[in-house]
Amino acid sequence: MSYKVNKKLELLNAKREEAFLGGGAKRIESQHKKGKLTARERLHFLLDEGSFEEIGMLVSHRSTDFGMQYEKYPGDGVVTGYGTINGRLTYVFSQDFTVFGGSLSETHAEKICKIMDMALKNGAPLIGLNDSGGARIQEGVVSLGGYADIFYKNTMASGVIPQLSAIMGPCAGGAVYSPAITDFILMVEHTSYMFVTGPNVVKTVTHEEVTSEELGGANTHATKSGVTHFACANEIEAINHLKKLLSYMPQNCEERAPFEDYENSDEHRKQLDQILPENANQPYDIREVISEVIDADSFLEVHKDFAENIVVGFARLAGRSIGIVANQPAFLAGVLDIHSSTKAARFVRFCDAFNIPLLVFEDVPGFLPGTDQEWNAIITNGAKLLYAFCEATVPRITLITRKAYGGAYDVMNSKHIGADMNYAWPSAEIAVMGAKGAAEIIFKKEITSAENPEEKWLEKEKEYSDIFANPYRAAERGFIDEVIEPADTRIKLIKAFKMLENKVVNNPRKKHGNIPL
Ligand code: HXC
Repeated sequence: MSYKVNKKLELLNAKREEAFLGGGAKRIESQHKKGKLTARERLHFLLDEGSFEEIGMLVSHRSTDFGMQYEKYPGDGVVTGYGTINGRLTYVFSQDFTVFGGSLSETHAEKICKIMDMALKNGAPLIGLNDSGGARIQEGVVSLGGYADIFYKNTMASGVIPQLSAIMGPCAGGAVYSPAITDFILMVEHTSYMFVTGPNVVKTVTHEEVTSEELGGANTHATKSGVTHFACANEIEAINHLKKLLSYMPQNCEERAPFEDYENSDEHRKQLDQILPENANQPYDIREVISEVIDADSFLEVHKDFAENIVVGFARLAGRSIGIVANQPAFLAGVLDIHSSTKAARFVRFCDAFNIPLLVFEDVPGFLPGTDQEWNAIITNGAKLLYAFCEATVPRITLITRKAYGGAYDVMNSKHIGADMNYAWPSAEIAVMGAKGAAEIIFKKEITSAENPEEKWLEKEKEYSDIFANPYRAAERGFIDEVIEPADTRIKLIKAFKMLENKVVNNPRKKHGNIPL
């Protein structure tokens, strides 16, 4: 190689080395001291070895105010590019907190937008690793414009490619809205937080004293607000979760999720015959039913600690990726309320957008009564779940294990709103309400005028229960396609999903629907 070429290579390598160092060794050390990885280390753990191709390594900002022209770092605080995760193409951006606190400048935003455009054009998922002090304060409005460009592209890509956001540091101000538009958010406990206004502003405006952790830490958002779908113990756990989550999804809305090998064990599950408690009012954990039905260890629960009266998550059935929505009798008797409705509605819409068939386990006593629920719009929020199921065109199967009462019967993927196959166990009770309450209303006169009202009530309760506390009235009408033995559940579901594999339904043409928000 000639001397001249050598010199040119040296220059290239010097530039690369500078970019690899981000904000410098000292700031990297301080990042590590906080228990955080650097932007590049995160990508190293996320992507298949040697698969990362960086785009825009040498981009730097154009700002000249406040002496910024003398402070430039190649890459400008975000590492962008593409690589593979388990062999599948994925676009990524990873904010570098060591460069101006990962803050978003005009050029930083342009880099992210470029990657988003490529992900959309080429039909592959986008993962954002967020670690940023928000808008680059030195740049003013161009930085705000950069955020808005990202929000717009997030929205355009919504429902076309999966978009996942991991929050691995601060995420304040408008910066929270890009993750919020994406499909799933993961937060890391104790090192990440999200809020629109931080503790200082909160104190000034509302006089509340609150720490960052309490206001917007991973546990807060995993349990109270539901903003994050996952709270992970550390960054490595979050990265592994991202990979697992992606494995259930297709690359884009035109494709199907990949099949995965599974152990072809005994499809007949005897344990299911004994899984329900003797007493119909006794709780049980629906997760036990789920895990007996699906492929071993394939359940990835979403929003585990939020609105626990409904369980949602991804699983596999004979290797096929499915979305599960299940009432949870072990929490508030599995009642539907505001949070459980919105949690499930969003999950149903994700699955429908990305061709992931839906399986519903139903054991629901109805909607939660009370002023709190009514004043906070259970009507509008419950309607979200109803709407989400109604418009879903993916294969949809429901299994009623026990209670299916009132409006909740309709909402939980009933035949009437487009479910393809509706099964019930012999223990199913499908009625307007529970027998005790029903008897009290429709036999009120008879009960109150009886010599022994208590006895009469019991007698009438039994009468109502004998007629409706079973699946047979619904089966006679064809609202239930088959009453099955619990032990046969897995095999029935495998066959039905296979049968529905090529389902095509086209909803009426429209600009877009108007889901009750
Ligand atoms: C420019 C920033 C910055 C920012 C941090 N830095 N945030 N530079 N713009 N927004 C720089 C710091 O000057 C510092 O530089 C380095 O990043 C690390 O910051 P520290 O404060 O030393 O770190 P730490 O103590 O860990 O605190 C992190 C932090 C804090 C909580 C994020 O920096 C902070 O509060 N930053 C401002 C957050 C904020 O108000 N952002 C604007 C939000 S409004 P040196 O050179 O010392 O390493 C917004 C609007 C978007 O985002 C609207 C869209 C609709």
